Amino acid sequence: MIRESLIAAALAAAVYFMTGLPETIAQAPQPTVTFNKDVLPVLQKNCQGCHRPGQIAPMSLLTYKDARPWAKAMKNAVVTGTMPPWFADPNYGHFLNERRLKQSEIDTIAKWADGGAPEGDAKDVLPPVQWPDGGWQIKPDYIVEGPTYDVPPKGIVEWTWFVVPGGFTKDTWVTSIEVLPSQLAVTHHVCLSYVQHSPEVQYNVPILPRGVIQRDAEGNEIRAPRGQRGGAVQGGQAAGQRREAQGGAAFPGALGVVFGRSAGTSLIEECYEPGRPPADFRPYNAAKLIPAGTDIAVNVHYTPNGTPVTDHVRIGFTLAKEPPKRRYIAMSSSAPSDPAQFAIPPNNGNWEAPPAVVTFDHDVELVGLMPHMHVRGKAARFDLEYPDGKKETILNVPRYDFNWQLWYDTSIKLPKGTTMKVFAWYDNSLNNKFNPNPNATVYYGDQTWEEMHFPSYGLVLDDPSIDPRRVIRSPLQARPPGN
Ligand code: HEC
Repeated sequence: MIRESLIAAALAAAVYFMTGLPETIAQAPQPTVTFNKDVLPVLQKNCQGCHRPGQIAPMSLLTYKDARPWAKAMKNAVVTGTMPPWFADPNYGHFLNERRLKQSEIDTIAKWADGGAPEGDAKDVLPPVQWPDGGWQIKPDYIVEGPTYDVPPKGIVEWTWFVVPGGFTKDTWVTSIEVLPSQLAVTHHVCLSYVQHSPEVQYNVPILPRGVIQRDAEGNEIRAPRGQRGGAVQGGQAAGQRREAQGGAAFPGALGVVFGRSAGTSLIEECYEPGRPPADFRPYNAAKLIPAGTDIAVNVHYTPNGTPVTDHVRIGFTLAKEPPKRRYIAMSSSAPSDPAQFAIPPNNGNWEAPPAVVTFDHDVELVGLMPHMHVRGKAARFDLEYPDGKKETILNVPRYDFNWQLWYDTSIKLPKGTTMKVFAWYDNSLNNKFNPNPNATVYYGDQTWEEMHFPSYGLVLDDPSIDPRRVIRSPLQARPPGN
């Protein structure tokens, strides 16, 4: 290999001297792909957001020394598409927060790893990126104190919800929202749901939607014995009781506050996730209304990394200085949830749910999409049907991963009368490593061991005075809170 390129170089030089042609025209040898010149720019742009000290990824990719031992793993991760985490099929849609690598970037990492992962010339090294360290990216006008959580050094921390007081004494238009955990190294995600204050709410009490989960030494969930219905640990509720659960009555205290109304609000709105920028409505000339008396339900998911830490979440808002020109609303629309239509058979690896269907009764700009299923979620697709009959797939997620609550930013103007259909598939077989019990028939429900088909989406309305309840038509309409 080295010999060949030496000969090629010698030949090229000879040709150059003989003809006076520039080297490039005279078929120069392929330049070596080096870390400093070729790979570092790719890592700075696509990987270091998560792969640097203090962030969620297990190793840093800031420098040659950091990255060199991972050369083969990096090639493998980018060639197979597992890194960066991004689940949208490239053949559909257009996303403003697209995280997929270009083919040329994949090739660069692959060639570098295959070529012995050379460092290259020190003069090629780009200056390090100045990352926002621990502080706000927006300059908040108003801060809500979120929950505090003691993250253990190891083990699995289950998804946990807390409700915190919002302190919104009057209706408030906000122009951006940033969710800021203090311990980024262990924080997988923190997501918000807005709930109307209710007198029975208990603030800052951890709520475990799945109860206490039994796990073996490796952290795998202990599956329920064959034939047992419903959830693995909590014991499945009989289908008849499930209606009650969705009304909230079956959940005590604060859990009912979050989940009892989940069918009537957007389930998940703004999130912190590694590398995800704050939600900013200013580029759309829009603001979001937080009604007086709103509390915030905060969903936290931590990944212990060996060091015990205490995380404290803060939520920052910038406030509109004047009435907004346009209005942002986060919506969710459920698929039919009754057991006659939504029942995933045992050991079925590819069950298709009835679609979630929404018709828009106003012209809207669709600015964000998020599929939401639980641990059996496998794939999802968002389709549009325009009033003129044209059909279009705007997001296809062939490999859904419950652990990443990814929101796909987009910008699509929809004329009044457009219909959006969201399809979802589930894997209730043994092949799904997150499946607590492939022998259960799984019904719709708020708990993680039940299932959901509850897509969320963001809309911008040209006229902020439009009543959000009149924007969509859907038999299972979900509304922004307080409206
Ligand atoms: C959004 C955050 C994020 C981004 C962006 C990201 N990673 Fe990762 N990466 C992770 C996390 C978290 C893990 C740990 C494994 C997991 O949870 O999936 C990981 C694991 C890895 C691994 C180890 C996989 C293994 O073999 O165990 C490699 C290699 C890797 N990432 C490379 C990359 C490269 C190269 C990029 C950029 C092209 C990148 N990552 C971008 C978060 C990220």
